Amino acid sequence: MKTTCTAPGKIYLFGEHAVVYGEPAIACAVELRTRVRVKSSKEISISSDIGTTGLDFELHPYVSSAIQKLGSPDVSIEITSEIPVGSGLGSSAAVTVATLSAINIECGLGYDKDKIAKTAHEIEKEVQGAASPTDTFVSTFGGVIEIPSRKKLEILDCGIVIGNTNKGASPKKTAKLVKQVAQLKEDFPDSINPIIKTIGSFARHGEIMVAQKKYQALGKLMNVNHGLLDALGVCTMELSALVYAARNAGAYGAKLTGAGGGGCMAALTDSPFEVASAIEKAGGTAIITKFTSDGVLQE
Ligand code: PMV
Repeated sequence: MKTTCTAPGKIYLFGEHAVVYGEPAIACAVELRTRVRVKSSKEISISSDIGTTGLDFELHPYVSSAIQKLGSPDVSIEITSEIPVGSGLGSSAAVTVATLSAINIECGLGYDKDKIAKTAHEIEKEVQGAASPTDTFVSTFGGVIEIPSRKKLEILDCGIVIGNTNKGASPKKTAKLVKQVAQLKEDFPDSINPIIKTIGSFARHGEIMVAQKKYQALGKLMNVNHGLLDALGVCTMELSALVYAARNAGAYGAKLTGAGGGGCMAALTDSPFEVASAIEKAGGTAIITKFTSDGVLQE
């Protein structure tokens, strides 16, 4: 027997960093997937782009933790992924969710999706020290999700292009940037707290605009959200170059996504090829993708 599951990555439409302080955010699953194939075997093995290992908490920390959490069954695991690693698109959540789901099915453990999402969040916290439940929840359930309510909003009926700066990718980046914003907030609370609150207001407006399909207006607020993330010190020159290139090519709006400090930006658009070409000309790698209501799936 063998089981294959895939789980999607995500982008933030609004609210990264502010969500750490209890403000609402909107995150969307995108059709970039990590595929995990599980087979019963004589011993545990994990194969990915990195190489083949046994349980290895250095090289394959998320997958090793997932196997261990499920009682260390003897399985061989093969991983392939369309999601750039450590770039703000939720690659670690996707591999964790897909691994848990595939082992769950292969070994008949009877976990439901709530338990998969909860276990994946525990694993992210253990491996990273801290993690919000956003990535693991969105990767498990798919769709456009308001955080912290976990309300599912309507899928956006327009295109999305992701631009990867190919700089600053690192799984440790999120913790560093969250700390950096916390320090700024502590140093200048009366200046920084209103910025955090304003970012929270975008998700509240965003929920209505998503329902009304007002993508032009959504894009405008994404642009303002990008500006405020820049104000918080998490943007880079490379990210802004891709953001401006996308806007100049006619995107409704564009902003960095995730923790920042490099990694990826996302643009909302109805002319994805023009926007993708502008991102490439500005030095990034463009990925044309789409929003998806599908979370983890068995193939
Ligand atoms: O870069 P990512 O995809 O891990 O997103 C981080 C989002 C933050 O709001 C900065 C942190 C968090 O845990 O919500």
